[in-house]
Amino acid sequence: MLKAVSHSKNEDSKSVTVYYNNEAAVDWYKKYEHLDILYIIGVRIIAEVMESQVQVKQARILDVAAGTGLTGIEVTKLGFENIDALEPSEEMLKKLPRNVYKNIYKEALDPVKQSSIPNNSYDCLVSTGSVLEGHIEGAHFSEFVRILKPGGLIIFNVSDRYSDFRERLEDDLQALMEDGSLESVTKQRSVYFYNFEDANIYTIRTA
Ligand SMILES: C[S@@+](CC[C@H](N)C(=O)[O-])C[C@H]1O[C@@H](n2cnc3c(N)ncnc32)[C@H](O)[C@@H]1O
Repeated sequence: MLKAVSHSKNEDSKSVTVYYNNEAAVDWYKKYEHLDILYIIGVRIIAEVMESQVQVKQARILDVAAGTGLTGIEVTKLGFENIDALEPSEEMLKKLPRNVYKNIYKEALDPVKQSSIPNNSYDCLVSTGSVLEGHIEGAHFSEFVRILKPGGLIIFNVSDRYSDFRERLEDDLQALMEDGSLESVTKQRSVYFYNFEDANIYTIRTA
């Protein structure tokens, strides 16, 4: 079994990007891609949840924290044609399949600064294995609301391993429900994308 890497509360997006730009981390990551079938199954399940919610194949989709593009690949296999990627790590981007994505944003989402993506751009944001400590956190969800069209969807998974983080995230989502930014937050049980971990898949609809 491959060893998962933990991420701490004190990591900022710059140090996380340095981590993902580190050759050792990229090698570690490559092993998951090729050796762990669960990785692919976890990503495929996210793509299928997305398919069950997004009826139009031309819907504009953003793969958030796309890594090496495994989510985009699975989403494309389901017939979606209009997928963009956002990913800050140069090393990850080198492996991203260019034929899968129309536009690629090389940037990190920052909770206190808007990204370069215009308002109301996307029908759906999808993210696998990237909503976690020091990566994408509750504070980033206002930016998601900004770049989504009204009634747009956010679909992502969070492992049971990050249960403390998940509790804080759910509090942040509740606050966004209460201020009218989100219309609904639903979750379902699933496998994560490595190490036989269980996870929640969240489907969030903006107001
Ligand atoms: C565990 S990888 C998952 C990658 C991909 N979604 C997959 O399933 O293969 C986490 C990714 O999140 C990206 N990331 C971390 N913090 C980020 C941020 N603030 N904004 C955008 N991407 C971020 C990293 O560069 C890395 O590629």
